[in-house]
Amino acid sequence: MVQQIQIAAATPGAAERVKLGPTDITISPLGIGTWSWGDTLFWQYGQSHTEADVQQAFQAAMRAGINFYDTAEIYGSHRSETLLGACVRASGQPVVVATKFMPFPWRLGKGNLLKALRLSLDRLGLASVDLYQVHQPLPPIQPEVWMAGMADAVEAGLVRAVGVSNYSAAWMRRSYAALAQRGLPLAANQVEYSLLQRAPEHNGVLQACRATGATLIAYSPLAMGILTGKYTPEHRPGGLRGMRYNAGYLARVQPLIALLRETGAKHGKNPAQIALNWVICKGAVPIPGAKNARQAEENAGALGWRLTDTEVAALDDMSERVTAKG
Ligand SMILES: NC(=O)c1ccc[n+]([C@@H]2O[C@H](COP(=O)([O-])OP(=O)(O)OC[C@H]3O[C@@H](n4cnc5c(N)ncnc54)[C@H](OP(=O)(O)O)[C@@H]3O)[C@@H](O)[C@H]2O)c1
Repeated sequence: MVQQIQIAAATPGAAERVKLGPTDITISPLGIGTWSWGDTLFWQYGQSHTEADVQQAFQAAMRAGINFYDTAEIYGSHRSETLLGACVRASGQPVVVATKFMPFPWRLGKGNLLKALRLSLDRLGLASVDLYQVHQPLPPIQPEVWMAGMADAVEAGLVRAVGVSNYSAAWMRRSYAALAQRGLPLAANQVEYSLLQRAPEHNGVLQACRATGATLIAYSPLAMGILTGKYTPEHRPGGLRGMRYNAGYLARVQPLIALLRETGAKHGKNPAQIALNWVICKGAVPIPGAKNARQAEENAGALGWRLTDTEVAALDDMSERVTAKG
């Protein structure tokens, strides 16, 4: 049972809103990602955080003015959608909900998308979803097929805006063209983007977003927690994250963490807030995961102010240095 929430007085970021792509949907310039809500394998749901924690994370984020929440059918074996839906319905507030369709190789036609969408809506307890995204560019189905399914879903009133995720610039353009034939815009491409993952700047995706008007939604904007500065070679994250971010990697990125701290000291902000503000300064919408109210509140502290161009350039430079190969 989720408690009814009261929205407190406006916080510095509360009034900030940006358009989701070329749609009439307005979102906070930072959303909340809910992969960890219900996920035991990667994020240790049940050990590091509980149902009460994620409910409080949602409530804290809402109080801070965050109205954009991202989930997916596969997160926590469907539990993330169920948990988020309960929070949204209990809030009684307008919330922009994004979820995703996974194009598993056995899902061979657009009818599968409609079927999966209806199951997501059942779990969310909502009549429609604001943003529906194709989660991955998986073979064998071509993007035009999924975009046809998406357009059907919009026409059926089940989806307000269409997005993709992990799509290349080329697949984005094909999706954009297929939707345009049905008179619809491509609202977003959700890709990994952070100070430790700058690929969208080099692989054409950021440019394709600018050209098509789609919002770049930045996932893992804290590099799965590394950019908070709390993990070091001596104190690594557990489980699968510890394999991706090993001791050598964590040692290499410490100069960047030091610069995040130094920059943060000037603004009264912590490393996570600086790392998230950097994403916002790049014109993208970060969706940091939050396991509890403290993390949601801290991440909301990236709103309502901006780094200077000089600070962004210094962070760009340091991020390039610590991630350079060789
Ligand atoms: N489309 C895709 O393929 C895709 C892929 C990945 C993610 N996503 C989306 O993007 C969202 C965010 O990405 P992510 O969860 O991978 O990584 P992230 O946002 O970079 O990191 C989230 C993790 O960092 C830690 N954390 C967050 N805020 C913190 C704070 N203020 N202080 C200390 N620790 C903090 C928490 O884990 P600990 O406390 O355990 O350290 C949290 O679970 C996901 O929830 C999901 O919605 C999408």
